[in-house]
Amino acid sequence: MKITIANAKGGVAKTTTAIYLAAAATMRGLDARVLDADPQSSASLWADLADDNHDPLPFDVAPANLSTLGRLRPEAGEWCFVDAPPSGRVLEKAIEVADFVIVPTSDSPIDLQQAWATLQAVDGKVPAAALLVRAEIGTTAFKDTMTALESNDTPRFEAVVHKRQEIKKSLGWNPTKLYEYGDVLTELIKEVNQ
Ligand SMILES: Nc1ncnc2c1ncn2[C@@H]1O[C@H](COP(=O)(O)OP(=O)(O)O)[C@@H](O)[C@H]1O
Ligand SMILES: [Mg+2]
Repeated sequence: MKITIANAKGGVAKTTTAIYLAAAATMRGLDARVLDADPQSSASLWADLADDNHDPLPFDVAPANLSTLGRLRPEAGEWCFVDAPPSGRVLEKAIEVADFVIVPTSDSPIDLQQAWATLQAVDGKVPAAALLVRAEIGTTAFKDTMTALESNDTPRFEAVVHKRQEIKKSLGWNPTKLYEYGDVLTELIKEVNQ
């Protein structure tokens, strides 16, 4: 399965989502890897820091580009999570080859605009859904974002990833606590197996 995590905006937890979902899949006994297609290379950095911390990630993180994405053929039952760049041909390719596209977005109106733009770029070619991340439940921003997503009929994950210091501090460590990402994976598996 090829799952691309994409958003035209930076800093919306794309890399965090790719790493946590691969960790969740691995914990569930599935074969997973992360393909780092972003020149910022944060996913690769995460893996390298985890090695330095003697807490290695239990799945591979490999760099990816236009060519490798085009040739990406997961083994049967293997889950490839592609951490996509914010724009360009590599982003287009990462969307084109995906079985499902996850568009993480925070509960800020600007992020929401970018999420919609990204979903529009997917344009029904591939199943896709928004994933609310770094959410501060109970705030006006959160309620407004949920209302906007609903009034727009934006496909989204039921699970919402809360804003947490523990997630913020987990760069460079193997995530053993999945928080809401376990539920996100459950929904994802259901979606792609339909
Ligand atoms: N659920 C969360 N709660 C708090 N901070 C988060 C959460 N998810 C991501 N972050 C933080 O937000 C920042 C951007 O996340 P990152 O995954 O690097 O985004 P992107 O890959 O889209 O640029 C990082 O500092 C990360 O630790
Ligand atoms: Mg990133």
